[in-house]
Amino acid sequence: MRVWRGVLGLLGATLLAAAAPVAPPVPTGAAGPLAYGTAWYPEQWPEATWDADLQRMQAAGFTFVRVAEFAWSTIEPTEGRYDWAWLDRAIAKAAAHDLKVVLGTPTAAPPAWLTARYPEVLLVEEDGRPARHGARRHFSVGSALYRQKAAAIAGAMAARYGGKPAVIGVQVDNEYGRATFDAETRRRFQQWLRAKYSSIDRFNAAYHGAQWSLAYSDWAQVPIPGAGDSPSLYLDWLRFFSEQWRDYQQVQIDAIRPHLPGDRFITTNFTGRYDNFDFALTAQPLDLVSWDWYFPGPRVDPAEGGLLHDMNRGFLGRNFWIMETAPGNTNWAERNYTMPRGEVRAMAWQAVGHGADGYAFWTWRPALGGVEQFHGALTDAGGRPQPVYAEAAQVGAEFARVRDVIAGTVPIADTAMLHDFPSRWAIRRQPMTVDFNPFTLFTDFYRAVRPSVAGVAVLNQPTDLKRYKLVVAPLPHVIDAAAAKALADYVRGGGHLVLGPRSGVKDPTNALWTPGAPGPLAALVGAHVDQTHVPPAPIAVTGDIATGSAAIWAERLAIDAPDVTVLMRYPRSADWLDDAPAVVTRRVGRGRVTYVGVWLDAAALQKLLAWCAAQAGAAPLLPGVPDGVEVAARSGGGRTTHVVINWATSEQSLPLPPGMTSLLDGAPAGPRLTLPPWGVAVLGQR
Ligand code: GLA
Repeated sequence: MRVWRGVLGLLGATLLAAAAPVAPPVPTGAAGPLAYGTAWYPEQWPEATWDADLQRMQAAGFTFVRVAEFAWSTIEPTEGRYDWAWLDRAIAKAAAHDLKVVLGTPTAAPPAWLTARYPEVLLVEEDGRPARHGARRHFSVGSALYRQKAAAIAGAMAARYGGKPAVIGVQVDNEYGRATFDAETRRRFQQWLRAKYSSIDRFNAAYHGAQWSLAYSDWAQVPIPGAGDSPSLYLDWLRFFSEQWRDYQQVQIDAIRPHLPGDRFITTNFTGRYDNFDFALTAQPLDLVSWDWYFPGPRVDPAEGGLLHDMNRGFLGRNFWIMETAPGNTNWAERNYTMPRGEVRAMAWQAVGHGADGYAFWTWRPALGGVEQFHGALTDAGGRPQPVYAEAAQVGAEFARVRDVIAGTVPIADTAMLHDFPSRWAIRRQPMTVDFNPFTLFTDFYRAVRPSVAGVAVLNQPTDLKRYKLVVAPLPHVIDAAAAKALADYVRGGGHLVLGPRSGVKDPTNALWTPGAPGPLAALVGAHVDQTHVPPAPIAVTGDIATGSAAIWAERLAIDAPDVTVLMRYPRSADWLDDAPAVVTRRVGRGRVTYVGVWLDAAALQKLLAWCAAQAGAAPLLPGVPDGVEVAARSGGGRTTHVVINWATSEQSLPLPPGMTSLLDGAPAGPRLTLPPWGVAVLGQR
């Protein structure tokens, strides 16, 4: 049965892909398909090293380098005096080695003369201490003067290099998001609130200011919130803060754009699992989303990686780039493990399978000075290739073989996952248990559903849902009535919706929905939450479809509609959860809604979501895929390319449909594919 489901899944997915709208054109034409490269800091090395480094990059199959993102003090050693000569030569040398260039604006590291002469640009910590020169990202995103300085240097760089044939794009700044409590930003925040609420009375009413007499009598009293402030103020601050980064980015985009030909992109490098601002909002003015893929553990979590790829693809609904990933190890983690042999290659192919059209390492060569001397690099301090260089070069050769085949293709997805930053922020502010990490919940739901579906599109808004057979919303915790209606319409129209715990608890001002959870979703679900629990010990949750346990969160559901079916319930006990429903489902209109009011263990959640996927008609791309093996596919122009990765720690094999070819060596593939740990297959269909 699984085999037929898989073959039908492949057929269905291919049909699905054929129906999927073609991704909007991204101005990465000059970059070419499947760019591959590394960060390179020529200003940190004697010029005599450049040729040998660039030659080794070329030999590894690299097609681009990213330069200059921290080079402000080298470009402008004193105010108004620019030294472009070294950068002219570095870009020319890169081009001479057939390497294109992504230019970084150097605004994450202002020179000492700038912050000394204009200290008002410095950010202020929560305790009132101003930041100082000596590290990086120490400016205030709300500083009007800093925005002027940033626009000036960005514009000067773009004017000089934007039209160079080698320059394919510009990265604005580096990893946005450092908070500030400076007075100028606080005033901006107060003005923003005034514009949003129009009167102090409306503001106090929206925040329910009677509680603890929180109501403000003057806008000037409103602080930049700290850990103990109103959850409503906290949410509004992060919305405002996200707009500040978008506006700071915009002044640079406005300075850069006039100098860039139409097929050159503007991007920035987002930071993956973090949630210090709304990446989806800040991504909107960009041509391309790129993100930096690092992880703190001894080996990558492929579910987290897949979720983050699909999330970054979702910010603009188009393919993305990995702008940084470590070749070997990081230096900032609590334990900086060395990546196992084969992991660099597996990660590169997973990213491509999920829609990466560019992939770059951080970094090429360790700086001799500074705090990142021990960070993983492709060569040692003497420029000699590190062991991982050979693996990176293998990827380069493999990318070269397939880049024309995957050009213009986009990932296949029959399932959508809803994600939004306000819901993550609200839970981060009021977790109720230190164990309720919202990003972990998203990752757990993603890990559970991914093996049962063709692919996942992560959406930040419940729009255009009817393209997907299944929609999984792990945590629509903050939700408005319009979004709830969109979900109900999707279900009534034949969609299958899965809601996770703590759905529909807060309105957009972070106030409680009345009469209670799941708020505006209650009518759809046909049940409500009449009690929540942080289990002091794992509690069993059983049902015909799945049996497991919950250790972090458990809700007692009360049934309100006669057509609700209980899928899982707690055991009989003398306590409140006695025999209570934990997971309910209900057919509504032509579709189905399933409410998972409990944070289930991985195995039980996977079984439950497999049932939901089957109900929805979602199916894996290939049949009989064993645990630990991931299959992703990109399609377009009548071509479909499958990327198969064995993340398990032992050899795995799976059946292949007829007519598949290995694109890495041109040999026919099948009838079975066998992969070692970290093994990768890239399969085309004849
Ligand atoms: C971040 C920064 C890089 C570098 C790496 C090290 O991603 O963007 O400049 O510091 O971390 O892991």
